[in-house]
Amino acid sequence: MRIASRCSGPFLGLVLVFCPVVVALAEGPAGGDAALGTIPYDRFETDDVCAACHTDLAAQHRESLMAQSFVHAWDEIEYFELALPHSAREPKVAGIRAGCIGCHAPLAFLAGDIPPKRPSEGTRANEGVSCDLCHSITGFVGDTPFNFNYVAQPGEAKRGTRAGVESAYHEIEVDPFLGTAEFCGTCHNEKDPWGVWVKATHLEWRASPQARAGIVCQDCHMPPAEADPAPGGSGTVHRDVRQHLFHGAHDDGKLRGAIEVRIHPRETEATPGSTVTFVATVLNAKAGHMIPTGSAEERVVWLHVEVIDAAGRRHHLPVQPKGFPGEEMTIASREALAYQDIGEIRGIENFIGLARDGMVPDGDRIFRLPYLDPKGRMTVAQWNTASFGPDYRLAPLEARTETFTWRIPETAAPGSLKVRASVWYSRLVSSVGAYLGVPEEEWEPVLVARHETTLKIDAPALGRQEAQRR
Ligand code: HEC
Ligand code: HEC
Ligand code: HEC
Ligand code: HEC
Ligand code: HEC
Repeated sequence: MRIASRCSGPFLGLVLVFCPVVVALAEGPAGGDAALGTIPYDRFETDDVCAACHTDLAAQHRESLMAQSFVHAWDEIEYFELALPHSAREPKVAGIRAGCIGCHAPLAFLAGDIPPKRPSEGTRANEGVSCDLCHSITGFVGDTPFNFNYVAQPGEAKRGTRAGVESAYHEIEVDPFLGTAEFCGTCHNEKDPWGVWVKATHLEWRASPQARAGIVCQDCHMPPAEADPAPGGSGTVHRDVRQHLFHGAHDDGKLRGAIEVRIHPRETEATPGSTVTFVATVLNAKAGHMIPTGSAEERVVWLHVEVIDAAGRRHHLPVQPKGFPGEEMTIASREALAYQDIGEIRGIENFIGLARDGMVPDGDRIFRLPYLDPKGRMTVAQWNTASFGPDYRLAPLEARTETFTWRIPETAAPGSLKVRASVWYSRLVSSVGAYLGVPEEEWEPVLVARHETTLKIDAPALGRQEAQRR
């Protein structure tokens, strides 16, 4: 079911003013901002109930970030220590008070429990994106899924895509909507109070080769396996039971190999004193959207290239700039500062900002989309984003090439020179993580890909001539 709406779209906050009237006229069930406070907590069953029969699916879901979308440490810090104080201080972003919760603690949003209590209080907000929430979604409001515009209608029937199965505990409503990317898009696309698409995983997917091939989010994040979906009930074995992994950037196994890298020297031999060129090719080989996607304001993905001579001496090579506008934001700099808006958000005067690139070594290429605050400075607050810098992320099944040059020092050891290219991924800029007291596992770098090749360094030219004379 799709519910047509004449709302221009549920912008965080703004719609609270304009939409309720329209929705009331339409007399349909609400989605987005208009659904705030429309469904009490007790209309949803808890995950424990489902886990009694759906043993493994429940255990998988429990491990995923979606089950922790409200209690996860960084989420708690960003909502309670940045977003909530900012919403009180700045009228333009007042809507995020409830808006963040529409995706991160949907049961609390629908119950009107805003702001929810801290996770330590143990309220039902802690359930996050729960079984019964997803399995009660019947469609979305409007044409484009975004900003929690899902329509939830909890009840006896649990919705799924498989026809012909039965449960003694609940009714089953077969609904192909759960098998679509739009279902996920209701929370994986986000427009902020400035009207900027600060999260666009579903929109990126729509333009991908995977979408053209009919491969949806569920195929990669809920892969089918032979199993009984309800071993604790009276379930039956199917060949293609949707595994509830929802694995993404917080799963090192999912990250590793998602990007591929190869590096080659243009020359096969070189002499000390001459200049050699290396070209690295970096490819988003496995994701049906940009890498990084979603919370791209926080993620840092970078390419590090070094050479190691036969004597074990290492040299780090900075990337050669290409010359596009805004490129400086994609090359790591130890001096650059950013995130000055944290000062305004928290009411700290003369806050000079934090290291823009955290721990990334000077001169490394960063594959990123810079989020810019209303004053044009880089920010990790997606709700405070008024524009973007250049989009230098990795598009699905598209490669980027990066060039590195090195003048071989006279002192370089002759013999085999190793050239090593590594791609690293950090879920959060380390400077921001350390400053806000976010647990280190949230920002420690993960090695995603590495490739090595060699180049022969000849003995110095003079030495060779002498050798020939002898
Ligand atoms: C008493 C056991 C039991 C409990 C409790 C239970 N289920 Fe089920 N459920 C089943 C069985 C059995 C099936 C059918 C499995 C099969 O044979 O494929 C099923 C099927 C489903 C399906 C698949 C529908 C389809 O057509 O794809 C969904 C979705 C579902 N359950 C959701 C839930 C949710 C959400 C909860 C908790 C609110 C829940 N179930 C609690 C036993 C249970
Ligand atoms: C983020 C939303 C989401 C959450 C959370 C979620 N599910 Fe699902 N579930 C889905 C979708 C989507 C499908 C169907 C995918 C498809 O067929 O393409 C599905 C399928 C199922 C099926 C049918 C499996 C099969 O292939 O026969 C069962 C049973 C089920 N879910 C139970 C649960 C239980 C129990 C929980 C909580 C432990 C849960 N789900 C949490 C989205 C969700
Ligand atoms: C009701 C809103 C909602 C729906 C619907 C939803 N998600 Fe999510 N999803 C979230 C939120 C919120 C997070 C962020 C969790 C966090 O880090 O706090 C998230 C995180 C994720 C992650 C990231 C995990 C990681 O390791 O970083 C993946 C993957 C994901 N979702 C996949 C899906 C897929 C696939 C679907 C559709 C089948 C879907 N989601 C539907 C709200 C939703
Ligand atoms: C072809 C397979 C594929 C498809 C299709 C796909 N993904 Fe992913 N997704 C991946 C891989 C691989 C990763 C790990 C790399 C990464 O984190 O960027 C990932 C990562 C993610 C993450 C974590 C990103 C982050 O930075 O935290 C989210 C969220 C996500 N996907 C959601 C979705 C949604 C929603 C859809 C559909 C609109 C989708 N994915 C479609 C393969 C896929
Ligand atoms: C439209 C739904 C939506 C809204 C609104 C939303 N989020 Fe999220 N949020 C997500 C999804 C989905 C992810 C996971 C994206 C990914 O990993 O690519 C996420 C990720 C995050 C993360 C990163 C989690 C991690 O572990 O890296 C934080 C922190 C966060 N959100 C906080 C907030 C705050 C604070 C607000 C309000 C200002 C907010 N979110 C509004 C859907 C939403």
